[in-house]
Amino acid sequence: MLSKRLSSIVSLVPKTAQFIADIGSDHGLVPLELLKQNKRVFASDNKIGPYEILNKCLSSYENIMVSLSSGFDALPNDVDTAILTGLGGHVILDILNKGYMHLSHLENLIISPHSNIEEVRRFLLKNGYRIDQEIFLKEEDIYYVIMLFKKGHQELSTLEYRFGPCILKEKNEDFIDFIYKKLENIQYLLNEKSLSKKRKEELNKDYLLYKELLNEI
Ligand SMILES: C[S@@+](CC[C@H](N)C(=O)[O-])C[C@H]1O[C@@H](n2cnc3c(N)ncnc32)[C@H](O)[C@@H]1O
Repeated sequence: MLSKRLSSIVSLVPKTAQFIADIGSDHGLVPLELLKQNKRVFASDNKIGPYEILNKCLSSYENIMVSLSSGFDALPNDVDTAILTGLGGHVILDILNKGYMHLSHLENLIISPHSNIEEVRRFLLKNGYRIDQEIFLKEEDIYYVIMLFKKGHQELSTLEYRFGPCILKEKNEDFIDFIYKKLENIQYLLNEKSLSKKRKEELNKDYLLYKELLNEI
């Protein structure tokens, strides 16, 4: 059984995708599920431990390529969909920048950064992609954003870059829970006596923003 997060990642793979790369595959559960769906898969990791796990778990399948490599370094040119999940936003941006030439054949990108999500959205919209779908979810008290980017053009507002256009439209239960947690945290931080004036202003601004998001529901 895949967790809610892993099955959400798999659910964003378009039906039309034929050759899918899972970069930083680690446990190999996502490629395994895709192989069961008869997809062709490239699974890679840049560390020897996870690479050995991938080899052990996946090598009995026909349509698999397992690779010990960093980012897009060994990516075949006929891959049409890349999955980059469970990595920091700056690691993802580094992979996209270093493997920039591969963006020409990557029709779909499924991306879930732990951090710097807004920066990743801005980079991809500047470089020929649009957001097709987004999933916001909470698993074991951690909030995740999973996005499907497709080739195309899109303009977003400042708020949409920050929170995600589909996430803002849907405002699901987990996102509302996230807003309440943010408000609670800001209130706690505002009680800190040594807070600078600038920081206090930033926190108050964020507080109003999160309140406004709640009012829109
Ligand atoms: C936290 S795991 C995420 C596993 C899986 N993608 C998921 O979402 O559950 C991150 C994995 O990415 C690998 N990794 C980190 N940087 C990488 C890079 N530049 N290229 C390939 N793999 C990388 C790590 O070795 C680790 O196995």
